[in-house]
Amino acid sequence: MFVGEGPGKEEDRTGRPFVGRAGRVLDELLAGVGLRREDVYVTNVIKDRAATPGDPPRDRPPAPPEITACAPWLAAQLALIRPRIVVTLGRHALAAFLPGAQIADVHGRPQRRGARIILPLYHPSYALHNPNVRPVLRRDIQILTDLLRARGGAAAE
Ligand code: URA
Repeated sequence: MFVGEGPGKEEDRTGRPFVGRAGRVLDELLAGVGLRREDVYVTNVIKDRAATPGDPPRDRPPAPPEITACAPWLAAQLALIRPRIVVTLGRHALAAFLPGAQIADVHGRPQRRGARIILPLYHPSYALHNPNVRPVLRRDIQILTDLLRARGGAAAE
C-alpha cells in the first residue's frame, strides 16, 4: 500500500489518486521495481484537495485538522486491506505512520511496526522540483524488491 499526501487538481477531478504529474513519477518508480499500478493499492492521507482560495486555486500542504478529519478513512482502508508493507510518500504520510520521524533521516529505511513494515520515501512531487531527488527515490524504492522477496511476494496479511 502506497500512501501519499492528498489529491491535487487532477485527482480531485477524477477521484483517483496520483493521476497527474506526480503519478507519472510514481509509475516510473514502480516500473523500476517491476510493479504496475494494478499491483499496489494507492491512497492519500487526506481525501479532499487542500488548496488556497483564488483563481486558480493552488495546492497547499494539508492542515492538521484536515489530517485528523480524514484519519478514520485511512484507518478503515488499512483495516480492510491489511497491508504488510506501507510505503509512505512524503512527510505527511510519514507522520501518519511514524509520528516524530524526520524524512531526511528515515527515507529508504524500512521501519517495522508490529506485523507491518513502513518504508518511508520522499514524495514524487518533490522529485519534480528537485532533479537530484529522483535518483534517491529510485534507489530507496529498490528496497521494496527485497521486502517483497522476503515475503514470497505476499504483500497482504
Ligand atoms: N500527490 C499526492 O500526494 N497524492 C496524489 O494523489 C497526487 C499528488
